[in-house]
Amino acid sequence: MEPGAEVLAKGWVRTKRGNKQVKFIALNDGSTINNIQIVADAEIFDEELLKKVTTGASLAVRGTLVESIGSGQAVEIKASEIEVLGECDPMRYPLQKKDTSMEYLRSVAHMRLRTNTFGAVLRIRHAMAFAIHKFFNDKGFVYLHTPLITESDAEGAGDMFQVTTLDLAKVPVHGGKVDFSKDFFGKKTSLTVSGQLEGELGATAVGEIYTFGPTFRAENSNTPRHLAEFWMIEPEMAFYDIEDNMELAEEFVKYLVQYALDNCADDLRFLNDKYDDGLVERLRSVLGIPFERVTYTQAVEILEKAIADGVKFEYPVHWGTDFQSEHERYLVEKHFGKPVILIDFPKDIKAFYMKQNEDGRTVRGMDVLFPKIGEIIGGSEREADLAKLEKRIEELGMSRKNLEWYIDTRRYGTVPHSGFGLGFERLLLFVTGMANIRDVIPFPRTPKNAEF
Ligand code: 4AD
Ligand code: MG
Repeated sequence: MEPGAEVLAKGWVRTKRGNKQVKFIALNDGSTINNIQIVADAEIFDEELLKKVTTGASLAVRGTLVESIGSGQAVEIKASEIEVLGECDPMRYPLQKKDTSMEYLRSVAHMRLRTNTFGAVLRIRHAMAFAIHKFFNDKGFVYLHTPLITESDAEGAGDMFQVTTLDLAKVPVHGGKVDFSKDFFGKKTSLTVSGQLEGELGATAVGEIYTFGPTFRAENSNTPRHLAEFWMIEPEMAFYDIEDNMELAEEFVKYLVQYALDNCADDLRFLNDKYDDGLVERLRSVLGIPFERVTYTQAVEILEKAIADGVKFEYPVHWGTDFQSEHERYLVEKHFGKPVILIDFPKDIKAFYMKQNEDGRTVRGMDVLFPKIGEIIGGSEREADLAKLEKRIEELGMSRKNLEWYIDTRRYGTVPHSGFGLGFERLLLFVTGMANIRDVIPFPRTPKNAEF
């Protein structure tokens, strides 16, 4: 719009300043981090009206767009009419407080979405969701909707939220056990921890699929990187081996980071300047270079050498243990100085479905590790061999009863295939530079916290 245009602007007041003659109101409608400045001449507007223009109040302003002489904006609105749509009591409004720490904002989580910070995070979150669909759509992948209620514990970790309509005060019992035949689905069901197994049904039918939906884990992890309800993107591809899988994962995250730099520049600049002055630089740093590919066994050697050289970790490291995020971050930030793809893990720390290597003790899993976060992607080539898969299920003492449908993919026209899961909020931690995963999802669910 050109200066001189008559405009109508609606939004919420961020700040009001000025003097007796003129007031400057910063108005924001949430579409961008940038405010529009409203210039209100005290001669035109009644004092009582201007008193109601307080931080958080909503306004409709008519006026003329004029070139701005003040710094910071190209244009502003010279107001001819101001309507206060909703007043906002400055004594009570929770965002009026001086305390703008992330901890304080979590305590007023229903209102925190109105802050500049959460506006920026929400817009970036949206842009990333859109980019994810665009990336896969452009490649011809099919968006597959996998169930949220399921009887399968894909990861075999057992940390599932049960779904039931049974009266917990009067649970039906049969032969000393809960009688789930009386439950809504006639069997024991839970919220999904991963759409992968159903994703494999899709990939072995239409070739290349991805899921993008909420997943639920009842692990009692009160960390800055864990949520009980988080979103995951799980591509699954027929005819992909682990090399193809790694290539896709790397291309995918680089695409998303590039998309954020290209489309969220103002919001990233704001977050960079306010919280993390290395943010934009860190985003750029993962783009130009190939990720480092390292086997788990090599990584253990690197970490053991670091310990011998005096590096202190809270948790011990030896072949066969799962890495903690401190180990992952050492590899990424200190040793290699770039994102790392770890492959070939001990089979005992990974799920039953991963393709077994010929050494008999490792599987073809892959974890993508990122600076400041650690694991952002977990995936693998899948065991495509019926006999080997069945043997692994038996070794782990898993019940086949609920898995026959999955085993059928190997029984009928089995193919090499691979996939991975990207934790959406872990990606957002990286892209926004936020330090706590509770601050990149609008309504976080964590142990003892399920407000709204
Ligand atoms: O490594 P995970 O457990 O892998 C799977 O679920 C596989 N079925 C994926 C696949 O191969 N299709 O989880 C995948 C990713 C992790 O790398 C992490 O980014 C994220 O999901 N994640 C969590 N994010 C937030 N809170 C939690 N509690 C998370 N648990 C996993
Ligand atoms: Mg994992």
